[in-house]
Amino acid sequence: MAGQVVRGDKYFPRETDQNKLLRRLRDGSHLLVLAPRRVGKTSMLFYLQDNPPDGYVFLYNIVQSCATEHEYYKQIIDNLFRSEFTDQLSSLFKWGKDQIDKFRSSITGVSVGATGIEFDHQDRQLTHRDLSAALNALTLDKKLVLIIDEFPDVVEKIYNQQDHKSAESFLSGCRELWSEQRLNQHVQFVLTGSIGLDTLVSKMALSDLINVLIPVSIAPLSQAQGREFINTLNHRELEPIQIDATAQDYLLDKVGWLMPYYIEILWMQLVDVYFDEGLDSVSPANIDAAYNKLFSIQYQSHFNHWAERLNRFADSEKALASDVLTAMCEHAQLPGSHLFNLSQASQYQQTNCQYVIDCLIHDGYIFINQAQCYQFTSPMLKEWWGRYATRRL
Ligand SMILES: Nc1ncnc2c1ncn2[C@@H]1O[C@H](COP(=O)(O)OP(=O)(O)O)[C@@H](O)[C@H]1O
Ligand SMILES: [Mg+2]
Repeated sequence: MAGQVVRGDKYFPRETDQNKLLRRLRDGSHLLVLAPRRVGKTSMLFYLQDNPPDGYVFLYNIVQSCATEHEYYKQIIDNLFRSEFTDQLSSLFKWGKDQIDKFRSSITGVSVGATGIEFDHQDRQLTHRDLSAALNALTLDKKLVLIIDEFPDVVEKIYNQQDHKSAESFLSGCRELWSEQRLNQHVQFVLTGSIGLDTLVSKMALSDLINVLIPVSIAPLSQAQGREFINTLNHRELEPIQIDATAQDYLLDKVGWLMPYYIEILWMQLVDVYFDEGLDSVSPANIDAAYNKLFSIQYQSHFNHWAERLNRFADSEKALASDVLTAMCEHAQLPGSHLFNLSQASQYQQTNCQYVIDCLIHDGYIFINQAQCYQFTSPMLKEWWGRYATRRL
């Protein structure tokens, strides 16, 4: 089912990006993997956790729902003390019960109960110092990589639900951990996110707090990998369909931005068309039919996440973003001056136009092409925007 994190043999290898990430890790850096939703960040990190390179152990943490510093550290420490991880310590490093008990009692005022960590005092608030204490009690002869998935969501929640000062203090704590020399000998962080942490922190004037993080990107598949991916999907069907290389290329051209998710959702529609119509080969018209079905009401959920992101903007920012995207729907590409003119409308006098455009770029809606013009990242996203998006906001 498209949309769930893929593991095992469902995972299509992305060796160039995996290797790039591993090279940066070997440099000793903490990494920041930012890419829009559905690009495949979580799947790639799970793959690395399941197939760690020599000398590394990975621990995956999803922090999307954490709205305070305390909840953030509780989530990570909980995972560290959980038996899934300590069992690994036993099998990989021959840790005995005594060692595990000692590790689990490395944080003052915290113990491990049946349902996770518990506190001696109700008002005990966890901070980066507690995570540091636990991690320093964990000297392994491999490096531990803590994957923190959807990190920018935490910063955004703390900022929106508390205030600037809390967000600043949260990020300073994180930075202290990232820069702690002793800790860095055996622990590295890989942060990921679907919204631009860079735009968020620059809006808060806190960019210097994240400048130790090294950015890593995830590229679309090449045309050849795209074909290979289609073949993999086809071989997974109970009854593979007949599709030649020309038709495969036509399908990939329709998708345009070759991320596995978008190839897969069009593929699934095509397989339906193929069997519904009893075909024995695939023509461009069949692919067009599948493409159109993808945009019918019942499949709109494939694109909802694009609307959700825009709904995080303040009202006037959202209206401007919406105007920008609609203008871009009507043209193949737009020069910056056109967007600037849009932002000069009287209703946007108080709106930070540059911030809105930066977000649209960093969150994967648009990019600046070689002609220095703005363009939608994905033709499918553009199609969806043109048909429905303004009605969903
Ligand atoms: N390497 C991959 N191989 C196969 N499918 C993938 C791969 N990466 C992503 N996908 C597809 O994209 C969807 C979203 O992937 P996910 O890892 O959840 O992305 P993200 O974490 O960036 O939102 C998956 O459900 C799957 O359909
Ligand atoms: Mg994810």
